[in-house]
Amino acid sequence: MGRKIGFLSLGLAALWLAAPVETAAMDDESCVSCHADAGMVGDAYVIDPLRYDTTAHAGLGCVACHESVTWDHPDDGQPLSRAGCLDCHQDIYEEYAQSGHAQYADCGDCHNPHLVRGPTTISGHDMNRNCAVCHETSGLVRSHGSWLPQAALHLEMLPCISCHSGSENIVISLYLTRRPLHPDSGAPARGLPFELAGYEDLKLLSEQEKISSLIDTDGDGFISLAELRSFNRNRDNRNLRLKGMLTPEIVTHDFGILANRWDCTFCHASGPGAMQTSFVAFPRQDGSFERLAVEKGAVLDVLYGTPDFYIVGATRSATLNYIGLAILAAGLIMPVGHGTLRFLTRKNRR
Ligand code: HEC
Ligand code: HEC
Ligand code: HEC
Ligand code: HEC
Ligand code: HEC
Ligand code: HEC
Ligand code: HEC
Repeated sequence: MGRKIGFLSLGLAALWLAAPVETAAMDDESCVSCHADAGMVGDAYVIDPLRYDTTAHAGLGCVACHESVTWDHPDDGQPLSRAGCLDCHQDIYEEYAQSGHAQYADCGDCHNPHLVRGPTTISGHDMNRNCAVCHETSGLVRSHGSWLPQAALHLEMLPCISCHSGSENIVISLYLTRRPLHPDSGAPARGLPFELAGYEDLKLLSEQEKISSLIDTDGDGFISLAELRSFNRNRDNRNLRLKGMLTPEIVTHDFGILANRWDCTFCHASGPGAMQTSFVAFPRQDGSFERLAVEKGAVLDVLYGTPDFYIVGATRSATLNYIGLAILAAGLIMPVGHGTLRFLTRKNRR
């Protein structure tokens, strides 16, 4: 109770400062003056303004969704209302309700209303983290591995929704990964799998410059094949690698099992139109990603552009495609094939 009385005076002070007209609704700044501070509201009720302010919901105002808030909050002890997603996203709500998955998960199981963003500013890894809350990865690798070679690689390189919804306009998004640091020495550790590089990691490397300057050296907001090539060849970047994912630009909520995703050529197809559009996605401090477009076709130039990303059948190197197609045809020699491809591209990664 003592805590509550403390809040009464604090609350009044905050409200008085923020609201000259007594009848006006409490504004976001007042809410955040308490809710940014874990010491004041407790960990479970913290809203981090750095991350919230750039979300798609930030413009709505807290009160749009927590309508019942009064000037006596929190001292009145009344639980606040929470608007339902249905109120504003009726189309998606209806689409999702028709999918079999609606019986298993609600909107809030995959979306935090204070962190929502459009699909192009969310990483494919973050999309999959939502699914992993309920779908355990090792079990999926086993079940998918019964028909999908390199199942672990596929599950890492594809957002689940690229196969499990009708989401469209699939493009290649490249993310920077880095060698993990040794727990004792703090130096980059060899022999461990690369992990997604975060904002803080890359900020250290780019120093005063924007993170994108690590690759976009001329700062024109566009990444050319020449820039990709010099990034890959620069010894300073030996602890960094670009890893590609096939991410959708337009998301649908008809989650389920789609017959044509058994078809390898849905992704492993060649031809002028296949997988030409690509971006490098750089992490921002607020948890979102900024994307810079990459020169058309450069990603498919596996030898120079992106030695660590290779789509069998779609890549511009005839030799690799030949081996790739042979693998697709044979199906069985996968482990050998995989080793061979990595070997062929090995020197470019040095
Ligand atoms: C688009 C609607 C929407 C907006 C805008 C919104 N909220 Fe929420 N908020 C919700 C929903 C829905 C929940 C319930 C989440 C749950 O139970 O998982 C919630 C829960 C909360 C909680 C309880 C803790 C939690 O995460 O469950 C707090 C505190 C909160 N909101 C504060 C705020 C503040 C402060 C703002 C403005 C900075 C704000 N909200 C803006 C929809 C919104
Ligand atoms: C004076 C500080 C203060 C201000 C201003 C404030 N809150 Fe709170 N809020 C709290 C505290 C403290 C709690 C936790 C209360 C508890 O433990 O029961 C809380 C709890 C909440 C909760 C979760 C509990 C519930 O009632 O459902 C929501 C949602 C919430 N606040 C939203 C808001 C919104 C929206 C605003 C602005 C319109 C706001 N708060 C302004 C201090 C504040
Ligand atoms: C008060 C109305 C309102 C409520 C309630 C609401 N939203 Fe939103 N939402 C919006 C608006 C407005 C936008 C931004 C417009 C846009 O980009 O479509 C938005 C954007 C989004 C986006 C990002 C879309 C994009 O492409 O940028 C997501 C994801 C989202 N909402 C999910 C939810 C979920 C999940 C809920 C329920 C927890 C919810 N919204 C509740 C109004 C609302
Ligand atoms: C099983 C997980 C899951 C559920 C359940 C879910 N979504 Fe999504 N939703 C996603 C993913 C993944 C994305 C793409 C990444 C992103 O923008 O969050 C997305 C994207 C969105 C977008 C942005 C779409 C766009 O094209 O801009 C909106 C809006 C949205 N969801 C609303 C909802 C609403 C409303 C519900 C409940 C009816 C819901 N979602 C249920 C996983 C889910
Ligand atoms: C809140 C828990 C939860 C979340 C989050 C969740 N799922 Fe599910 N999902 C389930 C449950 C439970 C089932 C039914 C049991 C099963 O098949 O594993 C299921 C089933 C499925 C199925 C099989 C459907 C069928 O027709 O047989 C697919 C595909 C699926 N989920 C994809 C996803 C994807 C993709 C995501 C992330 C975008 C996701 N799920 C997130 C709980 C969840
Ligand atoms: C390359 C396309 C592809 C990717 C990527 C993929 N799936 Fe699947 N998934 C399928 C197909 C096709 C089936 C049907 C297999 C069957 O019925 O045996 C399936 C089956 C499932 C099932 C039902 C059977 C089971 O394994 O329990 C679930 C749940 C599921 N997937 C979840 C996921 C999740 C979560 C992810 C992301 C981590 C994911 N899938 C990634 C294509 C894919
Ligand atoms: C939804 C898109 C998609 C589908 C469907 C798909 N793949 Fe893949 N495949 C990928 C991606 C992405 C990679 C990873 C590329 C990389 O990171 O080098 C990959 C990698 C591979 C590799 C390993 C190449 C290497 O670098 O070692 C093989 C082999 C492969 N796929 C075979 C198949 C077969 C066989 C099928 C059908 C049963 C299939 N794929 C279905 C997208 C797909």
